[in-house]
Amino acid sequence: MIRIKTIASLVDKDSKLVDIGTDHGYLPIYLYENEITKNVTGSDISSNALKFAKANFEKHNLSDKIKLIVSDGFKNLDEKYDTAVISGMGTDTIKKILNIDNIPNKLIISSHKNVDELRLFMNEKGYKIIKEIVLQENDIFYDIIKYEKGNEILNKYELLVGKSNSLEYEKHLLEKYKIIYNKSKNKKYLDYINIIEKKLD
Ligand SMILES: C[S@@+](CC[C@H](N)C(=O)[O-])C[C@H]1O[C@@H](n2cnc3c(N)ncnc32)[C@H](O)[C@@H]1O
Repeated sequence: MIRIKTIASLVDKDSKLVDIGTDHGYLPIYLYENEITKNVTGSDISSNALKFAKANFEKHNLSDKIKLIVSDGFKNLDEKYDTAVISGMGTDTIKKILNIDNIPNKLIISSHKNVDELRLFMNEKGYKIIKEIVLQENDIFYDIIKYEKGNEILNKYELLVGKSNSLEYEKHLLEKYKIIYNKSKNKKYLDYINIIEKKLD
């Protein structure tokens, strides 16, 4: 729940928002009930996942308040949204979803894999980081980034570690890249280690 609350903390009040990959619909329910925005839609590629969302909306008396749409990314969404949340997928899936024209100006993204690749992709797509928060739950780090359309120059460290200023996350990445480097001897990871160690000095 702390993850959903943190994502919600990045949503601007009364945004017109779509939660892509809403699964059980927890974020739309939270946003609606906490009056962050009532202009919220949940969508998911899986009609089965949306059955759970539908049941949860019924429990919360929100069935006629929050729309649910089966859609692969933005493909079946006809309306224009100012904000989209895309959370709990890997970077490859997120990149596929965002590889279309006319995506919202504000995006809140949490990828569970290859976040450095995501930061580079978003940077090249003309989105800048407004806020980045890293959470740790049961030894798993969740990186949540709020983007808005705009350009920024990210240095190598920021592309790799982000702008959360979380020392724990930085140390976690350093350890992770050390393990990968020791196994693979791939020089790319030695570069990553040097970038992080230089910052930690
Ligand atoms: C692990 S759940 C994440 C649920 C929630 N967003 C969260 O952060 O807790 C991932 C959800 O994304 C959906 N999904 C995967 N690929 C998708 C796509 N291309 N378009 C829409 N939804 C997708 C899955 O069906 C699944 O319900």
